[in-house]
Amino acid sequence: MAPLHFISSKTPSFTLSLFFLFFFFTLCWSSRVPRGTGLSRQKLEVQKHLNRLNKPPIKSIQSPDGDTIDCIPISHQPAFDHPFLKDHKIQMRPSYHPEGLFDESKMSTESSEKAKPMSQLWHMNGRCPADTIPVRRTKKDDILRASSVKRYGKKKHRSIPKPRSADPDLVNESGHQHAIAYVEGDKYYGARATINVWEPKIQQANEFSLSQIWVLGGSFGEDLNSIEAGWQVSPDLYGDNNTRLFTYWTSDAYQATGCYNLLCSGFIQINSEIAMGASISPVSAVRNSQYDISILVWKDPKEGNWWMQFGNGYVLGYWPSFLFSYLAESASMIEWGGEVVNSEADGHHTSTQMGSGRFPEEGFGKASYFRNIQVVDSSNNLKAPKNIGTFTEQSNCYDVQTGSNEDWGRYFYYGGPGKNPNCP
Ligand SMILES: *[C@@H]1O[C@H](CO)[C@@H](O)[C@H](O)[C@H]1NC(C)=O
Ligand SMILES: *[C@@H]1O[C@H](CO)[C@@H](O)[C@H](O)[C@H]1NC(C)=O
Repeated sequence: MAPLHFISSKTPSFTLSLFFLFFFFTLCWSSRVPRGTGLSRQKLEVQKHLNRLNKPPIKSIQSPDGDTIDCIPISHQPAFDHPFLKDHKIQMRPSYHPEGLFDESKMSTESSEKAKPMSQLWHMNGRCPADTIPVRRTKKDDILRASSVKRYGKKKHRSIPKPRSADPDLVNESGHQHAIAYVEGDKYYGARATINVWEPKIQQANEFSLSQIWVLGGSFGEDLNSIEAGWQVSPDLYGDNNTRLFTYWTSDAYQATGCYNLLCSGFIQINSEIAMGASISPVSAVRNSQYDISILVWKDPKEGNWWMQFGNGYVLGYWPSFLFSYLAESASMIEWGGEVVNSEADGHHTSTQMGSGRFPEEGFGKASYFRNIQVVDSSNNLKAPKNIGTFTEQSNCYDVQTGSNEDWGRYFYYGGPGKNPNCP
């Protein structure tokens, strides 16, 4: 079925879209929808999708940023709409943890007395009860900003940097720009990093800026498997410029499978405190307090599922192994770093920032960093990777610089301002 198109009033091709919209609906009327109008069908489609995504909550919490966080019974979460998960028995804890399974402090899925400086904004107004998970409620406007109901919550383009054999034309064509560190050539069973958190400026609403870990399986073909987690600013996806925690997965290079957060069935959440897609607060400021988040993704060697932990204590949940082909076995590449969408064509750039918007050489307190980057090796141990490569399409716009020391292990600074005298 052809996706319905919506008007995004901020695109320069507004008039063109309008024309095609008109053309499309004319087509609908004449050939597809004998009764009713295209517009009422569109409304119905949006409502149906909202009903699918927003499960009946047992409690709702209003976040200061305008979000509503719904507390959904754990067994009613979107994952269980998946036909393969109808009879799935939820695993309430992983059977293996690379930082030590018997360290209870690492295993908490409930609030504990430990200091947790980074939190989510909605916590100011309440918490979800045990046996529920917090889910950011999708608004009608969230869906209307997407190019179609079907594409809501999905990435628009293939956007994973392919460092070694990057085809310059292809890389530049997609408009995605990266500054990353990576490892490949081995089997990986997980990755971690502590990521500096900023609120980069986005020039155009259809652009985004993110900082994340990629756990990749397979070659860069149509069946690329990817698990992704980090923070992002994406006005299109969330309707504001806040920095938000996010995850993504796909098993076919962003085509039919996968989505952000819990916007499709796949990820199974067990944690009652952290909402995917919710705002992170506070964020770092230049020459001021620095905030960072730790993310660990690892494969449970017994069940084969890929687990995710946020901060030091929050085991969020897992991606069941059956979602993937290559990643059902192991990952073949890990990437860490930043990505932005640049919407200018012909080698020109917008001033959308990556990281803090500063170049790596400015260092701590100004440039954004990833520290203590580690991989889980084939013995299921966390270790600092050897032979880290770096990649950026245009280092005059966004750059990356690696280093290592005792405190931070392997680390790198990354990011940049986009448009500047050396990056037109
Ligand atoms: C996001 O930031 C841009 C400029 O950086 C601004 O033009 C826009 O209005 C902001 N959007 C929202 C929803 O606040
Ligand atoms: C992308 O385009 C820019 C400007 O046109 C160019 O300098 C750069 O080398 C291109 N390719 C890659 C891989 O960055």
